[in-house]
Amino acid sequence: MNKIAVYPGTFDPITNGHIDIIQRSGYLFDKLTIAVNDNQNPAKPYLFNTRERVEMIKKALLPSLNVEVESFKGLLVSYAEKKGAKFIIRGLRALSDFEYEFQMYLMNKKLNSELEIIYFMTNQQYSHLSSSIIKEIAKLGGDTSNFVPSVVEKKLLEKFSVNS
Ligand code: COA
Repeated sequence: MNKIAVYPGTFDPITNGHIDIIQRSGYLFDKLTIAVNDNQNPAKPYLFNTRERVEMIKKALLPSLNVEVESFKGLLVSYAEKKGAKFIIRGLRALSDFEYEFQMYLMNKKLNSELEIIYFMTNQQYSHLSSSIIKEIAKLGGDTSNFVPSVVEKKLLEKFSVNS
């Protein structure tokens, strides 16, 4: 049986912390789909549209036969079922992630008890990273090159030079 996993996220934008999770989890599965959330969230408007977020991830990753990048709309569990995935990957940075992740875990398990949700502890070097903080640094003219892939750094510079 093929081991198929989905790594969902907003990835607005992808950071080196996400890349680390992708690299570490990619080895464990026959197929890994990076699934970019295409649902709108009024509480968290996106800086990058879905196509931009997908493209940045594709460019940031080394080509790999078992990793693909797609966007999805609707429930994560429905998308995972459609992909034939039995595993969902999430990253955990700090204790503060736990409550939110635990709630999502319980709800996703209620929706599909056969899914297994696997958590990767962040590499300590990335524990301070978040997409929001990266956007704030870029907006204020700071250097993001140590925190995001170069394609993302370039897109952030473009975005904020247009908006300033
Ligand atoms: N390193 C660095 N940063 C990390 C990280 C890591 N390893 N893991 C998470 N993050 C950060 C992200 O940068 C992001 O920061 P931000 O809050 O400042 O933007 C934050 O943690 C979480 O973002 P992300 O990992 O992209 O995921 P998300 O929490 O936005 O994703 C979905 C949520 C898409 C999985 C969830 O909303 C979903 O499943 N939606 C589909 C609809 C659905 O099924 N809803 C019911 C769910 S029970």
